[in-house]
Amino acid sequence: MRQGLICDARRDYGTRTLNFSTDKDIQAVADVEQLQQDYLARIADADLAALEEIRIAALGKQGAITGLLKTLGGMSAEERQDQGPRINGAREAVTAAIAARKDALESEVLNARLASEAIDLTLPVAPSPQGSVHPVAQVMDELAEIFADLGFAVATGPEIESGWYNFTALNMPETHPARAMHDTFYFPDRNAAGEEMLLRTHTSPVQIRTMMGQKPPIRIIAPGRTYRSDSDATHTPMFHQVEGLVIDKGITMAHLKWTLETFVKAFFERDDIVLRLRPSYFPFTEPSAEVDVGFTVEKGKRVIGGDPTGPNGGWMEILGSGMVNPKVIEHCGLDPDEWQGFAFGCGIDRLAMLKYGMDDLRAFFDGDLRWLKHYGFSSLDVPTLSGGVSA
Ligand code: PHE
Repeated sequence: MRQGLICDARRDYGTRTLNFSTDKDIQAVADVEQLQQDYLARIADADLAALEEIRIAALGKQGAITGLLKTLGGMSAEERQDQGPRINGAREAVTAAIAARKDALESEVLNARLASEAIDLTLPVAPSPQGSVHPVAQVMDELAEIFADLGFAVATGPEIESGWYNFTALNMPETHPARAMHDTFYFPDRNAAGEEMLLRTHTSPVQIRTMMGQKPPIRIIAPGRTYRSDSDATHTPMFHQVEGLVIDKGITMAHLKWTLETFVKAFFERDDIVLRLRPSYFPFTEPSAEVDVGFTVEKGKRVIGGDPTGPNGGWMEILGSGMVNPKVIEHCGLDPDEWQGFAFGCGIDRLAMLKYGMDDLRAFFDGDLRWLKHYGFSSLDVPTLSGGVSA
């Protein structure tokens, strides 16, 4: 029906030259206004396709309003002055209404598209993370966090080492009996420089690499994999250690003891932990001390902390340590009269077992998903001193 009206309008105004004289004049003016209103009404509820039809019908080459505009040329100046603004007004009103409606329709379409294609950025990337962080990785993160707070950087070294870094530089020459004690995995071939090659038996070669590679003062920890030919419930051929090394001026055993106490208390998150230093021997430290930590038995389980001299208490060894042997400092090209330091080495797997209550080390490396599900940590739990180092 609407379409019909437009066609009528085109027939009436698009092709006829209006002859403005009194009655007809009034009629034409009324028609222009009527025409404009009709168009505006149609535009108001047109969709995009209908809008284009209306535009062609009104303003196209053969359009009704275009036709009216053409009649202006045949009018007297007076008529034109009267009719010009009306016809032009209709053209402007219809043009503006079409543009506004088009804008509104287009943003409606865009809004609908945006709403239907929306991505909810507040949703977690993986709502249920798959897999878990292995307790060893978790403990390494905890160690890095605790020691970073004490001013220690994390250092690393290769797992395939030469005999020089793993033994000789650490004051264990080829004939030294301690070399045999390490149950070392040797490679069948020597390296290009003719050195024997092996899987590092401890993280101590990182001490050497660090002292040779950077100027003191030095404060590092070096966590990583280590290897010895040994296997039972508490030993696996591959295991993890963390090395600590401080080289500075005027360093004493007191610094060592304070650092270890601070570390152990932060790691086990208890203040009532006591350490006992027992004289020991390592070729690369002098004097050397093995460090025991006090435990108490709670509900049949050993728990770090409490009174080790009480009825439920005892001591267990957790690490080896000592003052860096002056010979080692010298091997690294430093003057032992100027620089002193302490070092310690600690089994990470054992720390994890003590803190998180596993009792068979072999399960750490079986890759059993049930074990990992039970003992693993969420990847979103990052240890922080402020939020708690354990998950
Ligand atoms: N490297 C020693 C070990 O594996 C531990 C240790 C490190 C002892 C540093 C003293 C100083 O048993």
